[in-house]
Amino acid sequence: MAEGRQWSKQRRLISPAFSAMSVQSYLPLVHMIVENLIVELGNLAHEEKVVNVSLVMRCFDADLISKVAFNSDFGSLQKRSQELVDLTVFLDGLLKRLISPIPYWKAPWVGQWIDGADHTLANLEKALEKILEDPASTERSTVLKKLVEVTGEKLSHRELVANLVTLFVAGTDTSSHSLAWAFYELARHPTLQQAIASEAAARSPAGPGHGKADALPLAQAVWMETLRSHTVTPLVVLENLEAFTLAGRTVPPHTQLFMLMREMGRRSPEMQRALGEDWETFRPERFLAEDGSFVACASLESLIFGQGARSCPGRILANTVGPLVLSEVMRHFRIEEWRGAELGERTNMVQAPERDVELRFVKADDNMGC
Ligand code: HEM
Repeated sequence: MAEGRQWSKQRRLISPAFSAMSVQSYLPLVHMIVENLIVELGNLAHEEKVVNVSLVMRCFDADLISKVAFNSDFGSLQKRSQELVDLTVFLDGLLKRLISPIPYWKAPWVGQWIDGADHTLANLEKALEKILEDPASTERSTVLKKLVEVTGEKLSHRELVANLVTLFVAGTDTSSHSLAWAFYELARHPTLQQAIASEAAARSPAGPGHGKADALPLAQAVWMETLRSHTVTPLVVLENLEAFTLAGRTVPPHTQLFMLMREMGRRSPEMQRALGEDWETFRPERFLAEDGSFVACASLESLIFGQGARSCPGRILANTVGPLVLSEVMRHFRIEEWRGAELGERTNMVQAPERDVELRFVKADDNMGC
């Protein structure tokens, strides 16, 4: 990943590709992948299989990001794609490196031998190189097309590939675990499932492509409540360039600062005033006004997606796709009620559910009586 001045230049160049207007222009591609998801869940429901929601959402997000980024569907939902396998090995390798007491990957071949990350990163880069050669990648409104339009020659081919890999890596795990958490919560709250289904039917009766995410306040509230209570990125790591004073002590330059974002929310009186004191309860209604409209909370979002120059560029995309997926899945299916013990967390590259979320889906017409 780029750092310093190089990062700053690239970040300025890629930001317009994630503006609200750009994200709206990607919606036709988003709808195609959401439709694939509904088909895949339909097949699994038909076979009465328990669905590994964590895996299906990972496939969904890999396909979604590849479609939105360069109009190329990896096809992971239909059969586990090589790109997804590479991504999984790469992220596991990255985690090993993050927690390793010694930088073993700096010795020639040792990194590859221990964690396989170098090889899989090279594979991902090669796959993207190939996609970039395909004219279809810029035929529709895609992130790549916007990047090329905005940046012209300002981003080298290598920088372009590196940025696309970063988007794929940063966007897949965060979004897919958040969706898995959201479906787990819906399984624990059957009345919410019915309410989201009714909202979907009332607001966009013709299905996706005929309504906007901002017209789905309840689905938005459930998504935001999921991000609040199961924040997959509960800390961000910053490094100061200049010395500063903190609680009477001088923090020297280049100190790593671990910002415990979720804990800040939990302990902040301001946040409790804005969202209520029942911080441990899953209650999406805290994001709904009396008239039923969605009430955003910017300060909470800055804890979830980061704050300032380095904050998440994928925030608007994630907040658009998340509610849309919840709404469309509940339009078509009901989830069997969760009767197991509460799921804890596992620290991975992000905070994931302690084990894969496994749920049973039934077609909404088959009526499970909820
Ligand atoms: C629920 C979903 C998501 C969450 C919770 C999330 C959260 C975050 C957080 C906390 C950061 C670090 C911010 C900081 O250091 O201050 C980050 C960075 C980043 N995210 Fe996301 N993210 C999500 C989805 C996405 C998506 C969908 C994409 C792209 C398709 C994306 C792309 C990125 C990139 C490229 C960075 C690095 C930014 C930089 O350092 O310049 N994220 N994200």
